[in-house]
Amino acid sequence: MTALDTEISRRRTFAIISHPDAGKTTLTEKLLWFGGAIQVAGEVRARKASRHATSDWMELEKQRGISVTSSVMQFPYRECMVNLLDTPGHEDFSEDTYRTLTAVDSAVMVIDSVNGVEAQTIKLLNVCRMRDTPILTFINKLDREGKEPIDLLDEIESVLGIECAPMTWPIGMGKRFRGVYHLYDDAIAFFDPQAEKGTSETIQGLDNPRLDELIGSQADELRTDIELVRGASHAFCAKKYLAGKQTPVFFGSAVNNFGVQSLLDAVVELSPAPQARPALQGDAARQVAPGEGKFSGFVFKIQANMDPKHRDRIAFLRVCSGRFERGMKVKQVAGGKTLSVNNAITFMARDRSTTDEAFPGDIIGIPNHGTIRLGETFTEGEDLRFTGIPSFAPEHFRLARIANPLKIKQLQKGLQQLAEEGATQLFRPVSGSDLILGAVGTLQFDVVAHRLEHEYGVQVIFEPYNCSTARWIKGDEGELRQLSERYSANVALDGADDPVYLAPNNVYLNMVKEKYPKLQFLEAREVA
Ligand code: G4P
Repeated sequence: MTALDTEISRRRTFAIISHPDAGKTTLTEKLLWFGGAIQVAGEVRARKASRHATSDWMELEKQRGISVTSSVMQFPYRECMVNLLDTPGHEDFSEDTYRTLTAVDSAVMVIDSVNGVEAQTIKLLNVCRMRDTPILTFINKLDREGKEPIDLLDEIESVLGIECAPMTWPIGMGKRFRGVYHLYDDAIAFFDPQAEKGTSETIQGLDNPRLDELIGSQADELRTDIELVRGASHAFCAKKYLAGKQTPVFFGSAVNNFGVQSLLDAVVELSPAPQARPALQGDAARQVAPGEGKFSGFVFKIQANMDPKHRDRIAFLRVCSGRFERGMKVKQVAGGKTLSVNNAITFMARDRSTTDEAFPGDIIGIPNHGTIRLGETFTEGEDLRFTGIPSFAPEHFRLARIANPLKIKQLQKGLQQLAEEGATQLFRPVSGSDLILGAVGTLQFDVVAHRLEHEYGVQVIFEPYNCSTARWIKGDEGELRQLSERYSANVALDGADDPVYLAPNNVYLNMVKEKYPKLQFLEAREVA
């Protein structure tokens, strides 16, 4: 095994997905704590609290600083190097979340045992499914009276369409919650909210008399449950898990630290090291293996940095192959330029530090002034382009009007640059000179208005725009021309000059689909 292979095999890069309030922030913090990356539990939640408290977008710069440092958290655990990628919790930032999911090798799905599978979980799981990302499930809040565990597994299987393999099984819930049984270690961990790490004692064997001593009549209930569970549920199958067809399920209570260690152990033991990634070399599709000698990576996120006046930004690049080292000359494939990366940063959980080297699975931040775009590929010289970074159909639209018409150039530039960062999408209908903004969530319009004012000196007014959804158009050129001529106000070009149909409503959308059968109307476009 080469030194590079060793580094690759110890990388684990994952994100946590959940519906807001299921416990993602709490679990993130506890994972960092169990991983030894933070000394006191409380830091991450405090950050989230300050994020919430500042609902006023005038505080935006401060928040950006916070989210840059918590976007990627790297820490060593056992023999592995873990990269935990944060996904913004707020629904309005979900597009950012989607793209972050293209940069991970696996995900942890948190389900609230009281609420079961919720709307955002469904959306996020569908995104994971686009790449068959392996998913571990953590069913949280067992200290509350929730749904029956077996019903939760049924719900995950039927609503999310993924097979469940219970790895642990809870003993009671709410006030009667006593701990979990590990189906594969034949061990029982007892829950004690007062204990430092949530567990008072661990014993071996379901027949252990200590079990009866500790939990009385619940011991027999557990024995019956386990017999049923073993008969009625799926056994863990590594192959199915890695193919994204089965999710191993763990039960616990993040706020009480319980079940977190088992989950973290599962991340290093079960979840995959960096895998090969699809790319185009010239016109030919190929898989880029992490062990290929030469460095390559792609940008999945761009974030304005602390000082917006200087328009400095950080491009988050996921290393896909080879080794990155400080000062290395890399090729920005799209523009053909070569740049020397001297100031890349990594994200050790405690703070940011300058990167000396990074390996596949790691994330590096490259400071720049708007010259790096979302989805771009960087290599050691090869003409590669990583594919599969999605841009989603926005669901909210606004027409941008300007208070001072002399500033129209700044407005165009500002909107174009913010769109390149991925904050919103910009559409220009083929007829007229309107600038239409699309976003996945309405909060993004506030962010854009604020940034236009502070970074570009433009006051913008957003007016309602009659559009309910957008679809990227692909297919027959003749039909596309006819569609553009007939509905010139509804056909627009996006930031990359790709044609988009802005549908006033579903009736129109269905009508054009019928009328132009040789065109496809796509909900997501690949950025790269
Ligand atoms: P999110 O990032 O997914 O939005 O969730 P977050 O961790 O912020 O958790 C949402 C709420 O759920 C928090 O309560 C948190 O304390 C609580 N929580 C997390 N894990 C558990 C658990 O295992 N059991 C119980 N009972 N609650 C849990 P909050 O009231 O919003 O905040 P706080 O007052 O606790 O700070």
